[in-house]
Amino acid sequence: MTLVELDKLSKTYPGGDAPAVADFSLEIPSGRLVAFLGPSGCGKTTTLKMIAGLIQPSGGQIRFDGDDILPIPAEKRGAVMVFQNYLLFPYMSVGDNVGFGLKMRGAPKREIKKKVADMLALVKLPDIAKRRPSQLSGGQQQRVALARALITEPRVLLLDEPLSNLDAHLRDEMRELILSIQRELAVTTVFVTHDQEEAVLLADQIALMFDGLLRQYASPAEFYQRPISQRAARFFGGVNFIPARRSDGTVKTSIGDFHFDAEGGARAPHGETVLTIRPEQIQLNAGAGPNTVPGRVRARIYVGRYTRYKIALGEHEVEAISSGEMPGALEVGDEVGVTFPPNRIWIVPA
Ligand SMILES: Nc1ncnc2c1ncn2[C@@H]1O[C@H](COP(=O)(O)OP(=O)(O)O)[C@@H](O)[C@H]1O
Ligand SMILES: [Mg+2]
Repeated sequence: MTLVELDKLSKTYPGGDAPAVADFSLEIPSGRLVAFLGPSGCGKTTTLKMIAGLIQPSGGQIRFDGDDILPIPAEKRGAVMVFQNYLLFPYMSVGDNVGFGLKMRGAPKREIKKKVADMLALVKLPDIAKRRPSQLSGGQQQRVALARALITEPRVLLLDEPLSNLDAHLRDEMRELILSIQRELAVTTVFVTHDQEEAVLLADQIALMFDGLLRQYASPAEFYQRPISQRAARFFGGVNFIPARRSDGTVKTSIGDFHFDAEGGARAPHGETVLTIRPEQIQLNAGAGPNTVPGRVRARIYVGRYTRYKIALGEHEVEAISSGEMPGALEVGDEVGVTFPPNRIWIVPA
């Protein structure tokens, strides 16, 4: 179990005008799985390689359980990286690939053989030790790469987009395997992805990155309920945005004034802001209480488990979801009372 601390970590590549990673500070709790999430090019792989010791930072520190590990070479750090494209040794058998780390350490042959078998069983690939990587599917190669990483009992496991080259059903299977192994071994793990759904399904905590900067570090639920900015909210999808002028406890918008609970404004300034609310938190025809404005149904999309509505509110349009099939369901063109419950409104900076 290892606590990983990144402290103002930065990297500017030679000739690069902007830093690939800047002032990245983060604590990864011992034994937990943290996802680095962000669009392509935001610095995820660069950060991972600095933790692994494959590239040197331009500034900042990395500590494992309080110890500075930057002077320690990659092979002695106890941080192993699994690459997106597996990078197995093509001319070695699967067994030799998996046993490679132990062989380099000079472990006895019999021990290597036993641990290779254990590792292949752990990734649910028994009986293939004699095959070559080229005789395996992509999903199998990824599992071999994982077994090769885990055989040395690393303190920190670094996974760089391990699911992105797999097709959909394999991705689900591999994701569940990674999660169950991570839980079983309780190895501190960083999982890099550009897919918010993957991050939400796997991670204890998510580090959201844009342009080389850490923008928010929080639990999956917090990203849904309290995104730090419009961009963060958009990355997690399905959010309504309405420009608003905020004062204490109230926002004024072009469709009316809304009250919000104190918590809802905790991260936003007074003045120009944006009101956000998730489609599933909007109430339709709930009665003429506070925070209710008149709208008109523009579109109705029946999805089965729920129905999605697009509703015109003055110059704005919001999306709302109602679960199941309502008796007397709304039709396109109907007038509808739209309620934003005060405890569901979340204000972000404009
Ligand atoms: N070896 C390199 N030399 C110069 N620039 C690089 C190198 N590797 C990555 N970059 C640049 O650094 C930025 C971050 O890249 P990377 O860490 O690979 O992002 P991600 O993994 O999030 O897609 C990008 O702008 C990329 O072009
Ligand atoms: Mg990358």
